[in-house]
Amino acid sequence: MRLILLGAPGAGKGTQANFIKEKFNIPQISTGDMLRAAVKAGTPLGIEAKKVMDAGGLVSDDIIIGLVKDRLKQQDCANGYLFDGFPRTIPQADAMKEAGVAIDFVLEIDVPDSAIIERMSGRRVHPTSGRTYHVAFNPPKVEGKDDVTGEELIQRDDDKEETVRKRLSVYHDQTEVLVDYYNKWAASGQPGAPKYRKIEGVGPVETIRDRAFAALAE
Ligand code: AP5
Ligand code: ZN
Repeated sequence: MRLILLGAPGAGKGTQANFIKEKFNIPQISTGDMLRAAVKAGTPLGIEAKKVMDAGGLVSDDIIIGLVKDRLKQQDCANGYLFDGFPRTIPQADAMKEAGVAIDFVLEIDVPDSAIIERMSGRRVHPTSGRTYHVAFNPPKVEGKDDVTGEELIQRDDDKEETVRKRLSVYHDQTEVLVDYYNKWAASGQPGAPKYRKIEGVGPVETIRDRAFAALAE
């Protein structure tokens, strides 16, 4: 299974990726998680990326494409992969097409902007694994602790309301065009064209999971 999860910031890509990667036994390639790891490690890339991420902008296509191409060389991608938060621009999508990176499904999770701010303000993450919770909608078993490791959960630096609004506008300006891009490719009937599936992303986390699994079974 090789798929792209498409959706606005806070649509639940990371939350659903967690279920999908386990079901299909594939790695989750989250460019956001990779960048946050670089920020934490204090690498030159991390230092540069942090400024852009905290402002709610996008890191340059060349950097992201390079990161993903390197990641795809690793052995665990042989069985498939799940892209979370990538591609995010037409040049990123084109680069994957040109490199012959196969995609079986594009799964769009649709959530209106009005629901996003509330989700982000209550989000808590386990920085090492990228596991994501919400204080009200998807709470951890023990308050403030990761379910698996028991380690502290944190708030992301880019979850401030002002930054979230900026990220949403960047999504509408630069990423939403990919809905059309992949729909057209899917409808083209070309060899290797992916299937396009769209699910409603509002509702209990488990309901969305069931919708995602059903969409990927068709
Ligand atoms: P990235 O980490 O990709 O952030 P994002 O796309 O903005 O998405 P999020 O991680 O914020 O949301 P999500 O859809 O994963 O939602 P989640 O499951 O956590 O990117 C961060 C930054 O890195 C970017 O701004 C950019 O600067 C840079 N970057 C990354 N990739 C890049 C690229 N390809 N090119 C250029 N720059 C790049 O859920 C959100 C919250 O809602 C959680 O609290 C969760 O518990 C809760 N929730 C989930 N599902 C539900 C539900 N059904 N009901 C209620 N609450 C729910
Ligand atoms: Zn995410």
